[in-house]
Parts: sequence; structure tokens; C-alpha cells
Amino acid sequence: MDWSKRVRKAVLKLKPYVPGKPIEEVQRELGLEDVIKLASNENPIGPSPKAIEAAMKVLSEAHRYPDDSYYRLRQKLASIYNVPTDWVLLGRGSDEILLHIVQTFVEPGDEVVFSSPSFIMYEILSNLMDAVCVKVPLNNYIHDVASLLEAITERTKIVFIDNPNNPTGTILRNRLIKTFLDETPEGVLVVLDEAYAEFVEAKDFPNSLDYVREGYPVIVLRTFSKAYGLAGLRIGYGFARSEITQHLFKVREPFNVSSVAAAAAESALDDKEFLDRVRKTVWTSKRLMYRGLEKLGLQYVPTEANFVLVNVNRKAKDVSDALLKKGIIVRPCEPFGLPTHLRVDIGTPEIVERFLCALEEVLKSSK
Ligand SMILES: Cc1ncc(COP(=O)(O)O)c(C=O)c1O
Repeated sequence: MDWSKRVRKAVLKLKPYVPGKPIEEVQRELGLEDVIKLASNENPIGPSPKAIEAAMKVLSEAHRYPDDSYYRLRQKLASIYNVPTDWVLLGRGSDEILLHIVQTFVEPGDEVVFSSPSFIMYEILSNLMDAVCVKVPLNNYIHDVASLLEAITERTKIVFIDNPNNPTGTILRNRLIKTFLDETPEGVLVVLDEAYAEFVEAKDFPNSLDYVREGYPVIVLRTFSKAYGLAGLRIGYGFARSEITQHLFKVREPFNVSSVAAAAAESALDDKEFLDRVRKTVWTSKRLMYRGLEKLGLQYVPTEANFVLVNVNRKAKDVSDALLKKGIIVRPCEPFGLPTHLRVDIGTPEIVERFLCALEEVLKSSK
């Protein structure tokens, strides 16, 4: 039986997401012990000890399903962000909330607008729903508001904006977000995906919840995967007005977030000192990274996230392969349409030093 004949046409066309190589795989394949991964925009420090403790505590209750309303976590998020509890979305990573959004709103043939490059799941999930992907090139590595607006037609259902953008780390500042939202036609949903918001240093980064409160048709997405260091537990969150969330709740599976993830997230929110330490570490390392790259004569895109896009002026895949042999996993950006760029996580200062030394050696030997 050729099952490809029975599979939905939309699925046949899908290209699966390619994640960064796992550390264990590189250790196994290359016989290396000391491997660092700088390819998935992860937290360089780890989870908050308080989050680990909370997760361990609920493990002994693992025979029970979670509280499906996730009362405590949603209450906490609602009170921190000063919104009603029924505006709070939870998902198995913000990835799952993105899935809920397309499942809820996108019919086959609808148009979905997003920048190119941007977070790859926008394209995968839109294709899954048999939507038409309308890709708008970044302008000098930044979302191009005028072109995004021009790309909107009567068939547009959703515009996805990752702010900061993945893979460039650039942001749309508040003034431009406001212009964009003011000029977006009625009935178009704008998803502001702020997975890296906690790392932003710029003062004029939007306070997107204000737009939700003011009644703009906006969904704001955040995650515990990055600054909170809980990527392995898979938990993300978001906010929208109840007119929108009531429909998203209908496609959510019961118990979509594990009790362990919910408990860890709740404690992570309380550990403000930890979050502060993570951000300061990334900001210090970022400057170290910039100085090192400048010394190597390489251009990079100034970033507001915990990763940086570097132009290595040669095939980035070759540089990435050579770094891999030295136990360093980075992300070559050919799939993003940037064949000479690498995307590299900003680790601790020690990790940044190690990356820079390895990169210098690789570049010297590939001259
Ligand atoms: C822009 C952006 N949004 C969303 C996600 C998904 O994160 P998660 O599903 O771990 O919350 C990522 C992950 O890398 C991302 O880069």
C-alpha cells in the first residue's frame, strides 16, 4: 500500500522542521565528550533551581492528570500581566499555541503573511492548514512594515511577526508596531511572537499587552523555553482577548501542558533574581561576542535576543561542519536563505570565548 496516496495533499508538501543537532548525537557520531550546543537559542545557564525543585515535588503526583484549567499558573500570569484569567493561553511550548491559532482560524486557501526569514514554524503550520504563505523579505534584516501591510489582501487571515525576529535578533520598535496595527485592515489577526522578549535591551520595545487591552486584534505569545530555561519541559503562554481565546480553547487538547511543566513555570515566574542573572549574563556575553567577531573582521547583526547572526563570508555549512568537529554545534542559515550566515547562541562568557577561539581556528584553516 502506498500510503502517500492516502495522506492529505497539504501534508505531502510539508517539509519537516529540522532542529539543531542534539549534543548526544554529536558525541556519539564524532566520538567527542565535550560538546556544546549553540544552535537552538537555549538558555546558557539552565533552569532556575526553584523551578527544578517545584518540578521534582509534583513528580510524585505523576499518576494524576494535571488540573486542566491550570488555575494557579494562569492566575499568576493574569496577575503579573494585569489581564483577566480567561485571556491567558497555555501550550506545550508556544509552538503548540501557534498550532492552535492556525487550526482555529485558517481555512484552506486563506493567506498567511510573515517575513522571510522568520520563525520556520509559521510556514510549516500554514502549509499544514493548506494556506497560502505570503512571504515578505526583511529589509536590512528587519521586518518591513510597509511591505507587510502591502502584502495583506482580502484573503489574509493572520500576520505572524516574531519580535525579536528569529534568525536575525532584530526588533520592531513600538512606533512601527503601532503603525502596523493601526493600518492593518479589520478581521486580520496579528500574532506578536515574543519568544525572546526578556532579552531585549531597547527601551522602545512595545508593551504588547497594551494593544491587547486596547482591543487590537492581537495575540501575544511568550515562552518559558528561552529566558526561563525550561525548553525541555515544553511550556509556552500567550494573551488575547476572550473573544479570541474562547475559540482557541476549543481546539486545545485536555491536559495539553504537563503538571511538571506547569509547576516549574509557576516557580520560575517567582524567581526574579534568576531571570535577572540570565539576562545580565546574556547581555555581558553579547558584548564579548561582538568584540570577538569584530576582531575576526566578521559582520554581525546587532541582536536583541540570545543569539546572533554572523556573516562568515563563505559557505556557512562548511564552517558549521568544521565547528562540529571541535564539539560546537551552531546553526548554518542556508534554510533561512542566508547561505553565508551562522546563527549562534550567546552562551556564558566562557562559552563565547570557546566559540570565538574555535571559529578563529576554523576560519584560518579554511582561508
Ligand atoms: C520566534 C519563536 N517563536 C516560538 C518559538 C517556539 O518556542 P517554544 O515552542 O519552545 O515555546 C521559537 C523557538 O525557537 C521561536 O524562535
